[in-house]
Amino acid sequence: MKEVKIEISVSVRIVEELTTAEKALMDKAIEVARNAYAPYSRFHVGAALRLANGQIITGSNQENAASPSGLCAERVALFYAGAQYPDVPVCEIAIVALVNGVLQDHISPCGGCRQVLLETEERGKSPLRILLCGKDKVQTLSSANDLLPLSFGQNDLK
Ligand code: THU
Repeated sequence: MKEVKIEISVSVRIVEELTTAEKALMDKAIEVARNAYAPYSRFHVGAALRLANGQIITGSNQENAASPSGLCAERVALFYAGAQYPDVPVCEIAIVALVNGVLQDHISPCGGCRQVLLETEERGKSPLRILLCGKDKVQTLSSANDLLPLSFGQNDLK
């Protein structure tokens, strides 16, 4: 028997330590979170992507009375980017959550979004940085792999 340790590295910064481009991406996520359609959870999530061609794509969560029919902010943005710019890698995503218009301390993507982030990264063949933006602190992961250790991915179907 052997035990394997899987480690991930997360950088934690205060918002003031973000670069201008990172702060701009976070602000886009905050702006679009205000467009969330979340009458059931009242949890408004915003995601902003920076593509390799410089385009910024944003998405907010869209809920539905038949709950599985709704979609998270991250996937709204990622699928839109895939539909409009299928060959352009996604370099970075900033994610935020608002409740009653107030930026929350913490946000972390659900399992389904982690799976889609991972496949987006594999598809783009370049690392996808993930900024989990809280009110005061921002956690940054350098790859979607770090969100989903022991993942099932496209290589498993080859
Ligand atoms: N949600 C997101 O959009 N992204 C996340 O990272 C976590 C959760 C949404 C789904 C649902 O509309 C609401 O937040 C509550 O789960």
